[in-house]
Amino acid sequence: MIICRTKAELRNERAKLGTLALVPTMGAFHEGHLHLMRAGSLHAESVGVSLFVNPTQFAPHEDLSRYPRGEDEDFALAEASGVDLIFAPSAEEMYGKARSQVVVQGSALGFEGDMRPTHFNGVATVVLKLFLLFRPQVAIFGWKDLQQCSVISQMVRDLDVPVSLVFEETVREPGGLAMSSRNRYLSKEHREEANALSRILFATANVLACSPFDQASILDGARQQLVDKGFSPDYIAVVDPTTMETLPEAKPGSRIVVAARFFGVRLLDNVPIPTDFSH
Ligand code: PAF
Repeated sequence: MIICRTKAELRNERAKLGTLALVPTMGAFHEGHLHLMRAGSLHAESVGVSLFVNPTQFAPHEDLSRYPRGEDEDFALAEASGVDLIFAPSAEEMYGKARSQVVVQGSALGFEGDMRPTHFNGVATVVLKLFLLFRPQVAIFGWKDLQQCSVISQMVRDLDVPVSLVFEETVREPGGLAMSSRNRYLSKEHREEANALSRILFATANVLACSPFDQASILDGARQQLVDKGFSPDYIAVVDPTTMETLPEAKPGSRIVVAARFFGVRLLDNVPIPTDFSH
C-alpha cells in the first residue's frame, strides 16, 4: 500500500493507477470503514483512502483535539482490506492559507445543519478537494451519516462533479448500535446500553410502515422511549433522503433519522422505512 503525505506525492502515485474508488475517512477505522474499503474493489481497479481529521468541519467547542487517532493501526487495517493508496496529509498540507470554501444549502439545512451550522460547508469543501486531488471514478460513503450523503449528492449534482457516488448500508455492533469512531467515547457499559437507540429506531420504522397516518404520535412515542432509556433526543423524523425534507407521512424510500445524546456522546442513526406498506 502506498502512503502519500503530500498532494504532489498523491498526484504522482495516482497517475500510475487505473480507475479508482475513493473512500474518504477521518481514520479511527472500524468495521464500517473496512466494509466501504472492501466495497471499493467491486467498483474500480484500485481503492484509495483519505485519512484526514478535517478541522474545518468541527466548530471551536467540538471534539477536534480529542477525536480518536491511531494512524499505524489504521494503515495496517486499510492494507489488510485491499487498499492500494492512502493519503494522510497534515492540515497545513491540505489547506495552506486557503480562503475559499464550498457553501452548501438545500439538504444541508435542518437536522445536523441546525445543530452544527458550519459543519457541512467544511465537509463539502474537503470532499470536493479530495475529489479534485484523487480524481476517482467512484466515491463510497456510508448511509450512517445520512445528511452527509444527501449534501454530497447535492454538491456533485449542482457542481457537475464527474464522480459516481455509492452509499453503503450502516454496519452495526452485534447489539445493533451503528458503528462510529465516536462510540469509543462511551464506556463498555454505556456502549451496551446505547444499543437501545437502534432497537427503538428499527421498531419505530416497522410501526410506521404499517401505520403511516399515525406518524406524529408514533414519533412522539419513540421520543419518549428514548428518554426513558436515558437518551436526550435532538431530533427524530421521517425524511426524504435525497432532499432531507421532513415528510409528514412515510412513503417508500423514506428513512427515519435520529440524533440523541447519551452520556455526553451524540449518536446518529437512520434506517429505511420498510416498503411493504399494509395500506
Ligand atoms: O464522514 C467522514 O468521516 C467525514 O465527514 C468525511 C466525509 C471524511 C469528510 O471529512
